[in-house]
Amino acid sequence: MTTPFDVVAVIGSLRRESLTRSLVRALTAMAPASLRIEVAEIAQLTLYNQDLEDMPPTAWRNFRERIRRADAVLFATPEYNRSIPGVLKNAIDVASRPYGANAWAGKPAAIVSVSPGAMGAFGANHHLRQALVFLDMPTLQQPELYIGGAEKLLDASGNVMNPSTRQLFTQFLQAFEAWIGRPVRAAFSPLV
Ligand code: FNR
Repeated sequence: MTTPFDVVAVIGSLRRESLTRSLVRALTAMAPASLRIEVAEIAQLTLYNQDLEDMPPTAWRNFRERIRRADAVLFATPEYNRSIPGVLKNAIDVASRPYGANAWAGKPAAIVSVSPGAMGAFGANHHLRQALVFLDMPTLQQPELYIGGAEKLLDASGNVMNPSTRQLFTQFLQAFEAWIGRPVRAAFSPLV
C-alpha cells in the first residue's frame, strides 16, 4: 500500500463542545485510507507580533514545522460576524511568516465551514478563500462544504445521520484526495 497523504486539519474554534471539531471528527472517520487527517492545535499560538521573530515562541516554530511537513491542509471554520474567527486568522498569519518563509505555500487546501445557522458559514468560507489566494494555496472548488444546522447533523456517536450528507462528505473527501494527488506546479511567494 502507498503512503497515505498527510493532511493537517486546522480548526477555527477553541470551544470544548465545538460543532466544527465534531464535523472534523466525522470527516476523519469517513476518510479513505489514502488520507490521514490529523489536527494541528492552534490554541497555544501567541498572537502574531513581528517583534517576536528574533526568537519565535516554541509553539510558533512547532506549528510552522507541522504545516511545512504536511501534504495538504483541511481548514474547518465556524463563522464569527460573517468572517473567520480571530484564532484561525492568527494561526494563518503565524505560519505565513517570517517574510519569505510562508509554510502554507503550494499546499493543496480544502475548506469546510460550519454553523448552527442556515447559511453554513458561507461568509467565513469565502473570507478564508481570499487569504488562501495570497498564501498560494490551491484550494478545492467543488464540492463546496457549507454545513448549516450543524448541531442536528450527528448522532450520539458522532456519525453523520443523513444519507445525503454522508454522500456529500464522501464526494468531498474523494475530490480532495484527487486534488492533493494532481500534478503540481512550483509554488510562488508574493513579494510583500
Ligand atoms: C457567532 N456565531 C455566528 N454564526 C453564524 O452563522 N454567523 C455569524 O456571523 C456568527 N457570528 C458569531 C460571532 C461570535 C463572536 C460567536 C461566538 C458566534 C454562532 C456560531 O456559529 C456558533 O457559536 C457555533 O457553534 C461556533 O462554532 P463551534 O465553536 O461550535 O465550532
